[in-house]
Amino acid sequence: MADLSLDFCGIKFKNPVVIASIETTNSPEVIRECVDAGAGGMIIKTLTDIEDMARLTQNSKYAILNEKNEPIKGKVNKNFVFYSRSGYSSTPLREWIPHLKDLNKYAQDQGSHLIGSAGGKTMQSWIDICRTIEDCGLPMVELNFGCPHPAMMPGVHGGSMIGQEPEIAREVTARVCEAVKIPVVIKLTPDQSRVLDVARAVKEAGASAVTATNRYTGFSVDIETGLPRLGGPAGIGGVWAKALSLRWVNRIYTELGMPITGSNGIYDHRDIVEFIMTGAPLVQVGSVLMLKGIKYLPSMINGLDTFMDTHGYPDIASMTGIASRQAVKDYGEQFRKPRMHSEIASEACKNPSCTICIQTCFYDALAQGDGSVESIHANCIGCEMCTQTCPFDATTMHTTTEEQRALKEFFQIKPDVFENKKFEKGFERGIKLSKVKG
Ligand SMILES: Cc1cc2nc3c(=O)[nH]c(=O)nc-3n(C[C@H](O)[C@H](O)[C@H](O)COP(=O)(O)O)c2cc1C
Ligand code: SF4
Ligand code: SF4
Repeated sequence: MADLSLDFCGIKFKNPVVIASIETTNSPEVIRECVDAGAGGMIIKTLTDIEDMARLTQNSKYAILNEKNEPIKGKVNKNFVFYSRSGYSSTPLREWIPHLKDLNKYAQDQGSHLIGSAGGKTMQSWIDICRTIEDCGLPMVELNFGCPHPAMMPGVHGGSMIGQEPEIAREVTARVCEAVKIPVVIKLTPDQSRVLDVARAVKEAGASAVTATNRYTGFSVDIETGLPRLGGPAGIGGVWAKALSLRWVNRIYTELGMPITGSNGIYDHRDIVEFIMTGAPLVQVGSVLMLKGIKYLPSMINGLDTFMDTHGYPDIASMTGIASRQAVKDYGEQFRKPRMHSEIASEACKNPSCTICIQTCFYDALAQGDGSVESIHANCIGCEMCTQTCPFDATTMHTTTEEQRALKEFFQIKPDVFENKKFEKGFERGIKLSKVKG
């Protein structure tokens, strides 16, 4: 059996599946259920002194939509879109305090952890909430710089409004890190392009880790009525968001090398594995448990266990970041990779009854021959589209050898493009007006 345990910011988790800060963690009873179901940890729904963000949760609106953007009635599958509006914990912090101590003990007795989550009104309240969390014995706190809803709440300055401003995020993080000894994790917002700048700022300010990421703000329309769903903009997520979250996990892992917990887009163990392989060894599971119930959690943990066994990963560390470490850091690297071309295995090919690859090759490198597909290697740029689309695995990619590259029958690319020196080193991202002016 694979070892699912891991050390994250000095805390030992029995498995990497943590329940995200969400409605599920808004009551002591359900937090206990999560512990009983085997969760590695639970992050309490964001504790706050912002009355309107607490009130918003009592006025929550939820819509679960399918791939046609229609409400899902009944069973939720992997294509779900969760469009919703809710706030922070509706239970005041002082009422949570006795529960926090008990719940933390209950969790730790079963090798799990209750983790804090804070969303303060002022600098002092960020500090006070985090100190209270620490005083109750919780081993870690997440600062919610990712919630999309404060931005729509008159008079509130929190959530993604902080997470979109590197210098404000730096300041709040620094003050909290000075005030508490437990590891501070910053939950990032993806509702911007400067996620890396914010992650860098909070790392410099003393954050132990980041959560990548909270959800996006969206807008959804019921085309039958012409009305906006839920009355207007709301938070939006689902498995479709996973690739967008992984984009930031990949960049933070590669460029900042700081511990990451992954969130936004997990439905099953396959998604968990993707987050871990990108560089987030601890993952957070949110909406899927709201929609399928806590009883669904063990299947995610067991699925991860089985996957690791069948694929020969002895522990979480052996999977962490393996995909990011093999990823190109910039597109220049693509030019240094060996050139490829496709070949068709005629015994597996179903042409002429199938012509899919001919339709999907945009480079005229595949043509209808006399009863079979004709490969025109001189046009094949090695884009791999045909191997992705062939339903019978009849196309395969091959490295174009030096000898083949010398032949006019194979795709010719100008040497100065293929071996351009400017692609040898990395490059500074970003743009300056002087560059645009030329
Ligand atoms: C209804 C709802 C309420 C949420 N409340 C909070 C919250 O109080 N604090 C927080 O940090 N994140 C909150 N989140 C964000 C989740 O913790 C999680 O980051 C997000 O849902 C993405 O993960 P998922 O794809 O597993 O749902 C909430 C999400 C939803 C859908
Ligand atoms: S690899 Fe791309 S260019 Fe080459 S045959 Fe396949 S689809 Fe066409
Ligand atoms: S998609 Fe596959 S099976 Fe169909 S014609 Fe192309 S190679 Fe043959």
